[in-house]
Amino acid sequence: MGIYRDVILPKLCDRSMRNDRLHPYRRRVIGAAAGRVLEIGAGSGLNLPFYRTTVREVLALEPSPSLLEMARRAPHSGVRVDFIEASAEAIPLDDGSVDTVVTTWTLCTIPGADAALSEMRRVLRPEGTLLFVEHGLSPDRGVRWCQNCLTPIWRRIGGGCHLNRPIRSMIEGAGFRIDRVETGYMAGPKPMTFMYEGSARPR
Ligand SMILES: C[S@@+](CC[C@H](N)C(=O)[O-])C[C@H]1O[C@@H](n2cnc3c(N)ncnc32)[C@H](O)[C@@H]1O
Repeated sequence: MGIYRDVILPKLCDRSMRNDRLHPYRRRVIGAAAGRVLEIGAGSGLNLPFYRTTVREVLALEPSPSLLEMARRAPHSGVRVDFIEASAEAIPLDDGSVDTVVTTWTLCTIPGADAALSEMRRVLRPEGTLLFVEHGLSPDRGVRWCQNCLTPIWRRIGGGCHLNRPIRSMIEGAGFRIDRVETGYMAGPKPMTFMYEGSARPR
């Protein structure tokens, strides 16, 4: 279990998240970040090359020491990056202290995703922005059925990844107002590829 969680899973996460099809999402979402940015579940640092000079500082939060080590070695755009080994359910930052929170494909995995979203709202300043791209629950009945059936097995092999989380209502339920959300399938198996991309602000 230790080797799977600490060695194999971080490598699998890095490999799967290197998928070129994710690049357009990363470019759009990360390109909109500005100011002091908190990135939730930064993984192996694959977003770091996409930050622009509108960003003053990136706080890359990640609970896995192995992924954090990969992220430290990852190429980045030259923007200052500080790494934080912590979980999103208890973010070690002050209230209202960041301008942008970024989450890319983490809400599927974070065990206490609702608590994590509440923490994101707490650390975001009142006029700040949550930028997100996540996969989650499909509106299509047949696909949803598959997502619900597959999730118990999928989360065991996929490091806790759920296919069936209702991303939009989770974000709204944590006290955010969604400004923009675009949804749709990426290429690939439908239960794994229904995407929610957008931005939200504290209500
Ligand atoms: C599918 S990966 C996405 C990684 C990265 N965001 C990307 O876009 O490449 C999911 C990430 O969520 C992280 N994660 C899992 N539980 C977490 C938690 N409680 N708090 C913060 N991040 C968590 C994992 O360690 C992993 O880095």
